[in-house]
Amino acid sequence: MLNLSLGVVVVGAQWGDEGKGRLVDTIASHCDVVARFHGGNNAGHSLHIGDTSLVLHLIPCGIVRKNKLCVIGNGVVLDPEVFFTEVELLKQHGILVDAQNLKISYDTHIIFPFHKSLDAQREMSKHSLGTTKRGIGPCYEDKIARVGIRAKDLLNHNILEKKLAFFAEHQTFDFQEIFSRFFEYGKRLRPFLADVGEILHNQFLNNKRVLFEGAQGALLDVDHGTYPFVTSSNCIAAQASIGCGVGMKYLQDVFMVSKAYCTRVGDGPFPTEASIMEQEIIRQKGFEYGATTKRPRRCGWIDLPALKYASRLNGATGLLLTKLDILSEIGPIKICIGYKDQEGVEISNFSEVLKMLQEDQKVNPIYEVFDSLPKFSEQISSINDLPIEARKIFFLIEKELKIPIRMLSFGKERGKEIYFN
Ligand code: IMP
Ligand code: MG
Repeated sequence: MLNLSLGVVVVGAQWGDEGKGRLVDTIASHCDVVARFHGGNNAGHSLHIGDTSLVLHLIPCGIVRKNKLCVIGNGVVLDPEVFFTEVELLKQHGILVDAQNLKISYDTHIIFPFHKSLDAQREMSKHSLGTTKRGIGPCYEDKIARVGIRAKDLLNHNILEKKLAFFAEHQTFDFQEIFSRFFEYGKRLRPFLADVGEILHNQFLNNKRVLFEGAQGALLDVDHGTYPFVTSSNCIAAQASIGCGVGMKYLQDVFMVSKAYCTRVGDGPFPTEASIMEQEIIRQKGFEYGATTKRPRRCGWIDLPALKYASRLNGATGLLLTKLDILSEIGPIKICIGYKDQEGVEISNFSEVLKMLQEDQKVNPIYEVFDSLPKFSEQISSINDLPIEARKIFFLIEKELKIPIRMLSFGKERGKEIYFN
């Protein structure tokens, strides 16, 4: 296993779906606490435990492990309906979620049905972004507009009524029904609610290890991603501090996760998107369908300039590389190592690429091309067990990113990883 500091952040380095759920699940076994710090049930973290597959959208993956405390931070937006459905699903799998193993911040903003209808309505318009229609964007909008309803507001009859009345002025919904339903949710949420910043602080003081579980990825970050085709939260490591109310000194290991290729769901630029035929091959082999919306994912090649950019933004201390085995027996394989503009002039940094993409200017990826990788052996315990072609790709990635690859994972199940310390 990896040598870990007390504070470990795992974030996506692409457009989400890098395989974070699986890695967080593995790393969680060496941590005491697992915390989510942004996003909501737009995320979909797939876990494969023995014969069971489970997709968690909201509750941290650590919940499936015994004796772990899970935390939902103030930076998350929480849909109570989804929350209680997930609690029920976990119960059916024999996992009890209660106030002992899960804490939710008092300040977490609540997703209401009118957020979801607004999200869906916009997706029908010409301004659609390909969102997950879970009400994420509208809920964050209300947070920033300072009219949002927080978990603790559900506990107070007068506050909830007053705050909901504001929304009733602009939107049509059954006030009494929503009020009673959410007041009821408040009663059920009450035992879970806490000052999670204080809890995490005390965990650190007691030498407990905390894993911050990122969702989405750097290129979906609302400030640094492919705006406006992004999600509505910050997805980079610094958000772990803000979204849980803990000091930045605790964010010591920052691992960013990338696939050995690249995918994106939803609209927006994707400069290394593969040809239709190549996409189909990668999609089938890598089973690239959205865990939340079941949409087929757009597939393409790993983008090292984008990863370098993500590494800088995150202050990444290591890369966790997933699904290298998916590239076996398909090929030729492309690795994007740079970009050129229409005149053939090299573009030196990725933020310039982002700017050009936003202006609908064409950018041309520069690829290093590799032959198809042979089939991987089932038993890989060190880098020497990898085919030589795969090792070449591994070293090229490390050389370009200038951070070490700390873990390689294969297949779907737990335990198929190799670590580098
Ligand atoms: P929203 O987060 O539902 O507002 O969607 C905004 C964009 O982020 C869309 O392109 C979504 O497909 C994308 N997105 C949101 N969450 C995830 C995720 O967990 N994985 C991959 N893409 C996501
Ligand atoms: Mg996902």
